[in-house]
Amino acid sequence: MKILVTGGLGFIGSHTVVALQNKGYEVVVIDNLSNSSLQVLEGITQITSKTPEFQKIDLKDKSGLHDFFINHQDISGVIHFAASKAVGESVENPLLYYENNLAALTYLLQNLVKLDKQNMIFSSSCTVYGQADELPISEDAPVKKAMSPYGNTKQIGEEIIRDTCATEDKLRAISLRYFNPIGAHPSAEIGELPLGTPQNLVPFITQTAISKRKELSVFGDDYPTSDGTCIRDYIHVMDLAEAHVIALERLLSAPTKDTFEVFNVGTGVGSSVLEVIKAFENASGEKLNYKIVGRRAGDVVAAYADTKKANEILGWKAKRSLEQALKDAWTWEKTRVKA
Ligand code: UD1
Repeated sequence: MKILVTGGLGFIGSHTVVALQNKGYEVVVIDNLSNSSLQVLEGITQITSKTPEFQKIDLKDKSGLHDFFINHQDISGVIHFAASKAVGESVENPLLYYENNLAALTYLLQNLVKLDKQNMIFSSSCTVYGQADELPISEDAPVKKAMSPYGNTKQIGEEIIRDTCATEDKLRAISLRYFNPIGAHPSAEIGELPLGTPQNLVPFITQTAISKRKELSVFGDDYPTSDGTCIRDYIHVMDLAEAHVIALERLLSAPTKDTFEVFNVGTGVGSSVLEVIKAFENASGEKLNYKIVGRRAGDVVAAYADTKKANEILGWKAKRSLEQALKDAWTWEKTRVKA
């Protein structure tokens, strides 16, 4: 079966291509290379001994996308990652985010609904819950007003797909709300490639440990948590990648009448920033240079997933530990320095 992966050379996309190829799917990748590199294709080939078909297309290029679908009528499913994801940049330039994340999604759907039958997995985020009133966060928790245009594109993206599924009976979709994806493939052939200064915790930790950054700033130790630092649900990117394959298989086997479903993808375990630092030190044997600074605007105190729905309905559960994810992130960082 042929599966289209948009943004398939990005962080989560590339690991998902590996998971798909490992299960025997034929993969076609579309990527505009705005935040990724062709070298990722080589990494995927090294791991799976197979190179996916690659097309450099920007989803906003309506005619390029139309031509792509004319030549790929045999696609059975789409996993849609291609999007911009920097929260700060989205505040500076909201229209860029609405265009990249929502215009592009609309054009993709316009093409999908012309096919005989279509299945789509959407890359969403736990950011849609904001600071949830109850922990762990279940899929029934209300979607709160987004804190950034980026977060808003995830909420509106889900609505666009839900509305399209309601009127187009040929389309079925699952939205996966990711918690905090970290780590890398254990082979260190692929991993996260942050542009410039990393905004996320784990790439900042590994770049500090390798002396690319002087020290890590821990944003706030006066939150109402056990050690005062924020709590998140860090999930190994390969666990997340495998969740996409399982969700796709649910769509392909169509066991339910619901044409649009939402699942949280997390481990169900919350870890504080200081716990992540300790776990990194244990996993790597390195001492991390860090200092406590003030809170970062827009951070929620705590977020971790209720994984019951994904466990029971998808039959998926995260298998890898936080230490394993940090070890793999560290191996990836060291390998890149040598390269
Ligand atoms: C962030 C985004 C979220 C997005 C997700 C994608 C914000 C406010 N949220 O989530 O919308 O879906 O990335 O991965 O940007 N931290 C430090 N020092 C650092 C970096 C982070 O202490 O240098 C702390 C943060 O305060 C937070 C935790 O580490 O408590 C995790 O931060 P991060 O990796 O940026 O993820 P989120 O903020 O949870």
